[in-house]
Amino acid sequence: MERYKLLVSDPIAESGLNKLKEFFEVDYRPGLPKEELLNIIGDYSALVVRSETKVTKEVIEKAKNLKVIGRAGVGVDNIDVEEATRKGILVINAPEGNTIAACEHTIGLMLAISRKIPQAFSLLKQGKWERKSFIGNELYGKTLGLVGLGRIGSEVAKRAKSFKMRVIAYDPFISPEKAKELDVELYSDLHSLIKEADYISLHLPLTQETKNLIGKKELEMMKPTAYLINCARGGLVDEDALYEVLKEKKIAGAALDVFKNEPINPDNPLLTLDNVVLTPHLGASTQEAQEKVALIVAEDIIRFFKGEMVSHA
Ligand code: NAD
Ligand code: MLT
Repeated sequence: MERYKLLVSDPIAESGLNKLKEFFEVDYRPGLPKEELLNIIGDYSALVVRSETKVTKEVIEKAKNLKVIGRAGVGVDNIDVEEATRKGILVINAPEGNTIAACEHTIGLMLAISRKIPQAFSLLKQGKWERKSFIGNELYGKTLGLVGLGRIGSEVAKRAKSFKMRVIAYDPFISPEKAKELDVELYSDLHSLIKEADYISLHLPLTQETKNLIGKKELEMMKPTAYLINCARGGLVDEDALYEVLKEKKIAGAALDVFKNEPINPDNPLLTLDNVVLTPHLGASTQEAQEKVALIVAEDIIRFFKGEMVSHA
């Protein structure tokens, strides 16, 4: 196979990187500034990214030799897939590599916000043995409303069942049989789910249709005792409206791993609230997931250049 030039512009696991180096002339440049990416992208036949690099129309226009873009993860919302396709560039992702990591992070967020674990630890570090302010809530017997019952949503449902939660879901694209198999009640209307759930957890892609799916109206429909969990994409929620309902204590709290703009600004008002738990897009950040997604993408890109069928285009 000809040794094509391949650029990796976000951090990926060494195992995937080494695999790529067997076949390509690899430039590993995590954190590459946008302007530099625009200057050099024309030299490469393949590009590998995570979520930090924005592969915009402008980047694709400059990518005269690019044949394939590999996304070491699920969401391709940082890539202009339509433009890439128009230019004949294939977009490959690694959809199943980080499912468990994102699912476990979601469960972690649910527990952390319910028992105020980060808030209690923060006071303890200041020398304050504070118990009475940290009366939490149990997951047991509560209703979990999943928006999106795909790979991650399904795994969250299975674990929630072990906590003896009632699980309901809104996903217009899955079959009633699949929901039944998971012992999940499928709702055909998002608003009914929102009104009933004690925890709402988002597990759907960010697209033009799903942008701000959870807006002011939806947030105000939530029970005052309910929590919102978002380990999918920041753009699914109207962040300004969320800040308002949290500040006014119209809902119990929110646990967020993802934000409209990442990284968030240090002056993001969400950081001033007590009824939130925030993590910096760590859903897929486990050793296991990072190795899997890097290897899945590397192997698929190699298949592509060998003229073989790829698994995740
Ligand atoms: P998936 O494709 O397996 O599942 C998504 C589900 O959403 C599908 O079943 C689809 O039918 C459903 N869906 C689509 N539009 C919908 C709508 N309008 N309303 C309700 N449901 C809708 O994807 P997945 O692997 O489960 O990933 C889910 C999300 O999690 C993606 O946005 C992905 O990018 C994100 N993710 C985040 C992290 C992280 O680090 N925080 C890690 C992995 C994945
Ligand atoms: C994904 O969509 O896979 C996630 O955002 C994980 C990531 O790339 O960090």
